[in-house]
Amino acid sequence: SKSVWLDCDPGHDDATAILLALHWPGIELFGVSTVHGNTSADNTNLNAARCLEAFGAPEHIKVHGGARKPLIRLPHHDVEIHGVGGLGGVEGLPPKDDERVLARFDHPRGHTRAIDAIARAVQRSWQDGQGTKISVVSTGPMTNIALFVSVYPELLEGVEQFVFMGGGVGVGNRSAAAEFNILCDPEAAQIVLDAPVKCVMVPLNVTHTAIVEDSIHAKILSPNGALDNGKLPPAATPLRQMLSTLITFFAEAYKAVFGFHLGPPLHDALTIAYIAQPELFTCRRFRVDVELSGKHTSGETVVDLWDYSKSDNTWGHTGKNCIVTEALDVMDFFDKLLECITRCDSV
Ligand code: BDR
Ligand code: CA
Repeated sequence: SKSVWLDCDPGHDDATAILLALHWPGIELFGVSTVHGNTSADNTNLNAARCLEAFGAPEHIKVHGGARKPLIRLPHHDVEIHGVGGLGGVEGLPPKDDERVLARFDHPRGHTRAIDAIARAVQRSWQDGQGTKISVVSTGPMTNIALFVSVYPELLEGVEQFVFMGGGVGVGNRSAAAEFNILCDPEAAQIVLDAPVKCVMVPLNVTHTAIVEDSIHAKILSPNGALDNGKLPPAATPLRQMLSTLITFFAEAYKAVFGFHLGPPLHDALTIAYIAQPELFTCRRFRVDVELSGKHTSGETVVDLWDYSKSDNTWGHTGKNCIVTEALDVMDFFDKLLECITRCDSV
């Protein structure tokens, strides 16, 4: 099985990544850390704990708070897409003072900080264990990952890959050129791309194909659910009802902000899908850098499709440093997602 660490900023689609990391066969989730992003670091921290509880995570999986701000820039939250609090419109999550939610923090509001917790997980999996490397996933701004890379270079040998949702190949969503996660902390993203570790990018070009259309929403509500005269079926369980409120809010936001009429894209969930079943994706390896100072393009991921940089074949700052996912088997992905929800439902 694959050892996984998840660093996130929940966030509607981050929540679905947590669900998949817990219930996709072959994934062993070591822990979760949180970062500023869709909402404040306090909110993402709490939201991650509530999600772990709602999705039946084993007790030993804890949440570790991380960076409260980007390395250099001012923090930037996305109320328009994720509402106030980061999980706007989501009903049915355990409340913040729920004892089991509080127990997800390893000490009272507990402080093994994100980067130290990631370091321990790598040590546990690789040094103390049987040399198993860990896949570190990022579904928010990459501040924590950049700090981990900078503070613990000696542990990078134990990292199998950094898999991040972020960036786009010629497309942005929070400026004409930049995607939200990269735009929030472009310097952090560049530090991670320059690390001597395999990086995998899941850009908007791919995540915009993973749309939760109504027919899928119907199956999320009920395993054999279908639309009846355009109407969604009733929810079969409280978990499914909760997920439906999540999809509904996210769908409304995507309709209002981007004119997505078919449904919302489940960006972050694809990172876990890549680790569990890379064969669901087609990919190519390129040199990728982040525009740190462009007048119109700050935060853009610059993908060297034609190898102008004549990069070598190493990971890190001189090489073709990134596997870029380019296409997804969408039907298969949603089948797996629905299976994970069914498994989650029976915990
Ligand atoms: C990314 O930004 C956030 O809105 C989502 O959670 C996702 O990680 C998409 O650009
Ligand atoms: Ca996210």
